Order: sequence, then C-alpha cells, then structure tokens
Amino acid sequence: MKNIGMLLSGRGSNFEAIAKNVAERRIPDARIAIVISNKHETAGIETARRLGLESLVIPSKGMQREEHDRAVAAELKKRNVDLVCLAGYMRLLSPWFVQQFPRRILNIHPSLLPAFPGLEAQQQAFAYGVKVSGCSVHFVDEELDHGPIIVQRAVNVQDGDDEHTLAARILDQEHIAYTEAINVVLEGNFQIVGRRLVRK
Ligand code: GRF
Repeated sequence: MKNIGMLLSGRGSNFEAIAKNVAERRIPDARIAIVISNKHETAGIETARRLGLESLVIPSKGMQREEHDRAVAAELKKRNVDLVCLAGYMRLLSPWFVQQFPRRILNIHPSLLPAFPGLEAQQQAFAYGVKVSGCSVHFVDEELDHGPIIVQRAVNVQDGDDEHTLAARILDQEHIAYTEAINVVLEGNFQIVGRRLVRK
C-alpha cells in the first residue's frame, strides 16, 4: 500500500478527483494518508473532512520558507508518505524539501510546459493566441514548473473560447492526467533519460 500526501492551497478539485480514483481503485494499492493546506479555510480541506481523510492546516504566512517546509515534511514523514502530490499548492518549495523526497514530488501545471510557466498559465496561453494548450504533470525539481514531464494532455483552443471556458476544459483534462501520472510513478516501470521519462 502506497501512501500519498496531498499539498494544496485552495479549491482542491485535483485532489478530489484523485481521492475519487483512489476510492474506486483506479489508483490501485494506494491511500491518501494526509492532506495539508498552507492556508486556512480552503475548500480543499473541507473536501478532505467530508471524505473522512486526515487533514492539517500548516499556515505558511509569516514563516520562513524552509521552516514551513520542515514542518510539512515532518508530517509527511510521520505518515510514511511515498508520493507527495502538489495540487494547487501556491508556495515555492525550498531545495531542502525537494531533496527530502527525490523523484517523489509531483506537480500539475495548466499549460503544455515549457510554455507558460508560473501563475495564470491558462490566461497567458489564451492571451498569447495559441491554438493548442493543455496541462502537464511533472516531477518537481528545484526550479519552478521545471522537472521531467510525466504526462501531458492537449486541449484545442476554440474560436468561441474565453480564458474561463479554456481553463475549464483544461481542468477536466487535469483531473484525468494527474491520475495517469500517479499510476505511472507508483508502478515504477520507467527511467529518466536526460529529461525524458521513458517506459521500460
Ligand atoms: C490547477 O489549475 C492546477 O493546474 C494549478 O492550480 C490549479 C489548482 O486547482 N497548479 P484545484 O485546487 O486542484 O482545483
């Protein structure tokens, strides 16, 4: 049984999709061991409570980055977390944290990386005028939105789109992509060659 630790800061729709897929065994032999928010009163924490999952708020406000990360890592380690999933976690991780969980931290980003890293990626893509965008699930390294890519799903931009309709269609694909990526990583049948994840 693999233990997943979820880190979030807000709405938590990716977390909820993952929780559903864990419950329905589409992510086999795994459990969500802990959900941690760095903000109070997030919808994500409400969802965790409703689903009966253990959750914690570890407020980051006013805390040094690594000091906060140490508090988070201690809670993850207490629960023997095998995989850390960032899902709308709006806080940069310290190099120290990344080194605690080598190749065991995943993030989802709402663009086809390396295009449009950073905040409001869907809006950036829409404003740029791309015809295809999407989402990426990648390993977390010490740079923002940067580690090796595990899964990407593409979304066509339609003439009638605005940034909200585009973001909503990307989000639907995020909910599929994250589960695919978790399964790839937990199955472990891959190697990283340069930046490329290659199935064995
Ligand atoms: C998603 O768009 C994700 O790609 C980005 O933050 C958003 C989080 O949404 N990193 P939710 O909290 O999972 O609903």
